[in-house]
Amino acid sequence: MFSGQLYNVVVIESLGKEGVGWPAVWGKRRERGVRMTDRAQATEDGRATKAETLAVTDNRTGESYDIEITEGTVRAMDFRQIKVDEDDFGLMTYDPGLSNTAHCRSSICYIDGEQGILEYRGIPIEQLCERSNYLEVAYLLIYGHLPNEDEYNNWVYQVTHHTFVHENIKNFMEGFRHDADPMGMLLASVGALSTFYPESKDVNDEWQRWVSTVRLIAKMPTLAAFAYRHSLGLPYIYPDNDLSYAGNFLNMLFKIAETKYEPDPRLERALDVLFILHADHEQNCSTAAVRTVGSALPDPYTSIAGGVAGLYGPLHGGANIAVVRMLERIGSTDNVPDFLEDVKEGNERIMGFGHRVYKNYDPRAKIIQSHIEEVLEATGKQNPLLDIARELEKRALDDEYFTSRALYPNVDFYSGVIYEALNIPTDMFTVMFAVPRTSGWVAQWMEWINDEERKLVRPR
Ligand code: CMC
Repeated sequence: MFSGQLYNVVVIESLGKEGVGWPAVWGKRRERGVRMTDRAQATEDGRATKAETLAVTDNRTGESYDIEITEGTVRAMDFRQIKVDEDDFGLMTYDPGLSNTAHCRSSICYIDGEQGILEYRGIPIEQLCERSNYLEVAYLLIYGHLPNEDEYNNWVYQVTHHTFVHENIKNFMEGFRHDADPMGMLLASVGALSTFYPESKDVNDEWQRWVSTVRLIAKMPTLAAFAYRHSLGLPYIYPDNDLSYAGNFLNMLFKIAETKYEPDPRLERALDVLFILHADHEQNCSTAAVRTVGSALPDPYTSIAGGVAGLYGPLHGGANIAVVRMLERIGSTDNVPDFLEDVKEGNERIMGFGHRVYKNYDPRAKIIQSHIEEVLEATGKQNPLLDIARELEKRALDDEYFTSRALYPNVDFYSGVIYEALNIPTDMFTVMFAVPRTSGWVAQWMEWINDEERKLVRPR
């Protein structure tokens, strides 16, 4: 088991530690949001000065309006006052895909795409991967600070003692077809958890929110592993509470006839790092889905099922599968130059390259790379796809076509390769993403439930 608390000290000191209990940031102004836009700091009472406004003239009527600018944003509802006449509904903003619409304030995750920076609660991802373990990071995302030793021990105890699922969940999963997609099984079983905990519907109850959070983080690996075992026709393996979070997951995936499964510490660590890297990534499709569903105030299992549904899609959680399929299609390092020519002619895309936000090397891709050798050494496997991936990266980063477009490897470029090395089948890749993302989803759901400005999401 990783002794995460050993690593805490440095970071806690730099952050200022909060007491035990729910995050002290709830209901207060979010520090991270302030950093996002320095301009707003000039306004002490939170209202904009004259300079912090946008002058709008409606050429249909000749009327002028001053729209307040706060923290680099204007409020869409401020445009409703702009009308051609009394009967006019008022001006709306149009933003399919919400590419330029902030729909919440959040202090959980920060990305600087130009610099290739990713931080959880202000702590760089590199530091967390080096010094912490996944459960510590889950605590950090939810509570806003790293746990001290007592907090850590209590948190690990709680999560570890909620890993079992009701036998009826197991029976329910057994009812799926033998070839059911494990992501579909996960989606259905997370949603089904809601029926086992009807009291969780009371989202205003702090205890219910807390216990649901623990249950979701604890049970997700169990559901994911059951889905995997089902696809192989193997008996489901119950959790082993002596093992770490990642170690127990490996146990539930891979245990066969041994009395006690002992995870290889190199694989356990690599999986734990992958979990940290996938824990949160601000307002992406699945997280926005969690907040949208959550705004109607169903129980949290239902909101998180919304997140799993969003992640299921190939445009979001499924890209690492596309990378492995692309590498298999390329087939050998000799074919890389021809493949790149095809890309440059616009016939192909390098899957796992480029990002809407990162215009630099995705920091997560760098960290994953540093664990690949260790995993291959532990499994004794040679993965020819890795050679192809490295050749592809080397040549692309040497080529003006890709550098001029700021196209660098993203998290998915190497995550599929490392999952393969861990003997995880391709169909399970998105499930491997959903398990750790649960802590991020839950943290974002918590923050949203406590947001003074929370409203039912109901777009036009
Ligand atoms: N391979 C080759 N060319 C590319 C690629 C790529 N992967 N991505 C972008 N380009 C080119 C594109 O053709 C365009 O060139 P031009 O200016 O000559 O028309 C230019 O780069 C800008 O492309 P874009 O599509 O406008 O950029 P975007 O920000 O809308 O796309 C993206 C972002 C992730 C959809 C895209 O880079 C892509 O399709 N990548 C491959 C799929 C992938 O790896 N997805 C996983 C993303 S990371 C997931 C996560 O963070 O959780």
